[in-house]
Amino acid sequence: MPFPQPRKVLLDLRDVSVTYGSGPRALVALDRACLKVSVGEFVSVVGPSGCGKSTLMHVIAGFLKPTSGTILLNGVPVKEPGADRTVMLQEPTLFPWLSVYQNVELGPRSRGVPREQRRRTVQHYLDLVGLSDAQHRKPYELSGGMQQRASLARALANDADMLLVDEPFGALDALTRERMQREIVRIWHETGKTILFITHDVEEAVFCSTSVVVMEANPGRIVDQVAVPFSLRYAERIQNSRGIKSSPDYIAVREQVLARVMKDEGGEAW
Ligand SMILES: Nc1ncnc2c1ncn2[C@@H]1O[C@H](COP(=O)(O)OP(=O)(O)O)[C@@H](O)[C@H]1O
Ligand SMILES: [Mg+2]
Repeated sequence: MPFPQPRKVLLDLRDVSVTYGSGPRALVALDRACLKVSVGEFVSVVGPSGCGKSTLMHVIAGFLKPTSGTILLNGVPVKEPGADRTVMLQEPTLFPWLSVYQNVELGPRSRGVPREQRRRTVQHYLDLVGLSDAQHRKPYELSGGMQQRASLARALANDADMLLVDEPFGALDALTRERMQREIVRIWHETGKTILFITHDVEEAVFCSTSVVVMEANPGRIVDQVAVPFSLRYAERIQNSRGIKSSPDYIAVREQVLARVMKDEGGEAW
């Protein structure tokens, strides 16, 4: 159990399949996936390239209809994108003509949040990601890591129940990536958000999450879910990420997940 007490199930996938195309060229990208994510969990999904991670995220986001199966969010079937889910992608999708502040303000503005409350929300999330001083800058005046922080602030300002994140740190250099891993753990801890985090990096998945879902390819399937027992040691993860990553309990979970991932030789190259 990732948490000491059982929590309410927020996301419930029941036998969700996605087939692209039809006839002899049909491709089963997701084969009867079952997954439950409880409120406040940080669940990572790992697996080789082409195993259906993004497909999984797209059906949960409501961008794509499953071929069969059901997705429930708060007990209600997901049929289309909704304000209860928000998505953050690998490439920051900030509008280049808007300032950082205006980008983060988009969600609250489109929901009709009154001006003063909007200002407080935007300021709160800019503070949280450490971008208050850069709020008047345009996205192209920011480094890659800052752009991802701005994207994260924008996603958080939508105030959705669930944050869906697809390989958000893949394009960052190693140092910035390490810093962003600590940041996302801190932000998760401070906001209590439920996060589904897709990554091909097993170390990142184990470090950041309360549990790690392992997928394999051809057809894309969920084959395991491994709990991360030390995930409740927030302060240690945030303040001493190197210490955690060299601790025996981290290494044990990492090896367990790696062994499960490497059983699959059917996927494309990572
Ligand atoms: N729109 C699409 N049409 C046809 N095939 C697709 C489409 N999107 C993804 N695929 C295929 O489905 C499989 C799973 O893709 P994807 O979900 O992107 O995997 P991952 O994110 O794990 O790399 C891959 O073989 C990919 O080529
Ligand atoms: Mg992908």
